[in-house]
Amino acid sequence: MKISLHHQIASLPQALIVPVAQNTDLESAFSFVAEKTQAPFELIKSDFKAASKEVQTLYMEEGQENKRLFLLGLGEKPAVKDVLAAFRSFVFNRKSNLPPDLGIDFLHTTDNGHTIPWMEAAVNGILLGLYDIGLYKTKKEAGNDQAFNDNDASLHLYVSSSQAKAAKAAIDRGVALAHTQMEIFDLVNAPANKKTPQTMAEWAALSGAKYGYDVKVLNKEEIEAQGMHALLAVNRGSENPPTFIIMEYKPKDGTVLKKVGLVGKGVTFDTGGLSIKPSTNMHYMKSDMGGAAAVMGTMEMAAKLRLPLHLTAVVPATENSVDAKSIRPGDVIGSYDGKTIEVIDTDAEGRLILADGLAYTARNFKPDVMIDLATLTGSCIRTLGTYAGGLFSNNDELAAELLAAGQLTGERLWQLPLWDDYKREIKSDVADLKNFSGNPAAGAITAAKFLEAFIQDHPAWAHLDIAGVAVGDSEFSSQKSATAFGIRLLICYLENLIAKTNSTV
Ligand code: BES
Ligand code: MN
Ligand code: ZN
Repeated sequence: MKISLHHQIASLPQALIVPVAQNTDLESAFSFVAEKTQAPFELIKSDFKAASKEVQTLYMEEGQENKRLFLLGLGEKPAVKDVLAAFRSFVFNRKSNLPPDLGIDFLHTTDNGHTIPWMEAAVNGILLGLYDIGLYKTKKEAGNDQAFNDNDASLHLYVSSSQAKAAKAAIDRGVALAHTQMEIFDLVNAPANKKTPQTMAEWAALSGAKYGYDVKVLNKEEIEAQGMHALLAVNRGSENPPTFIIMEYKPKDGTVLKKVGLVGKGVTFDTGGLSIKPSTNMHYMKSDMGGAAAVMGTMEMAAKLRLPLHLTAVVPATENSVDAKSIRPGDVIGSYDGKTIEVIDTDAEGRLILADGLAYTARNFKPDVMIDLATLTGSCIRTLGTYAGGLFSNNDELAAELLAAGQLTGERLWQLPLWDDYKREIKSDVADLKNFSGNPAAGAITAAKFLEAFIQDHPAWAHLDIAGVAVGDSEFSSQKSATAFGIRLLICYLENLIAKTNSTV
């Protein structure tokens, strides 16, 4: 897609979108639309209320040509996530009916200081709206060949000349982000027969080569040599060997403000192991690498944006499968950290592989801040639903910064406690600790307490349980599908961290 910036609407594109926020000053947008379409101002005003995702189609004439004008409602006091949702939905629902020449009018949007982030969200939403989930369909869905989902479509953005520079940067970000997010959609939506721990490693290697960061992959022998016994234990039942993916990004010019270590749960399919899951929703367990996908996408975006940070991302990747070789409930295993673990439930596998990922990161990278993301517990879904990820942290400042980034991006988090009282739930009689208490109450919290035992006393660690938000029901697919939750959140967090560090040095 070709994207261009204009400071006035000299000649009309074949279709023009005029985004309008509800209850703000609609005068300038409506007078412009009335003039272009010759529809009376009062009629426009009475027929279009600018509710979220509301669309009013009008027609314009230029020379011999008839063109479309779409009023697009953004709802009341739209946040970035609302603008994104409106554009994504608009394009998703009309993609094969939109002409290959589309414009967005930001000249008549009342400027309330938000239009630059809105531009990023609009471009991001438009590209995500074109995402095609039908990865394995042998026939493309029939549509208009002269449509906007064509490769050589054009998108024109009309913005005031005073905003030109900021608008250009916002648009570039929206595009870069969308491409990474769609890669992550593909990865998370891919079924487990097309996505193994090896595939995950190949994705990282390719991304690293493309965007200039280092990727090292430990194979099974190297994982054994490192003594990552918890990852190996989970992998025992699987035909596919595990991988341990280590990504590392440093800015080329050497300006490093902070060192951040990310860890992502990379279970490419979770059957539950011998503590097998019921079949009804088991197919969704192909997305049990949503935490890994989020940290991989964040790594790629950070490299694209050349953030002045030293960033590492570690992904222990494996299937959790059923086999004669599988670990059994009651088995006692070791770990990279050295602690012994009694495996009460083989379905609590995420915390086992994260134990090795966290200990490895803390020991070998000693980051200033360590954050892990994981589709860790059904308990977190029962607690927060699909509306927010669970946040656990031993550092109040870090927690506050992550909560703020969640609020800004709409990838929301909600904090749950990490009180030591919960520790007794994971005390084992026979080993250093056990992976499950047998008590489903507060399961997301006891899982977090388990992870905490492996952070090597790191003073600024956060765990994000994204089980409810990594995939979601949406208008974009009939079944749950990937959201790429975590990338916008973490990039926003990292950028705020950079700004804060800059202002205090
Ligand atoms: N991957 C699951 C958590 C999950 C459940 C993610 C549903 C997305 C949707 C995790 O490995 C798991 O099985 N957790 C168990 C832990 C329990 C056995 C202590 C759970 O939450 O039931
Ligand atoms: Mn599980
Ligand atoms: Zn799992």
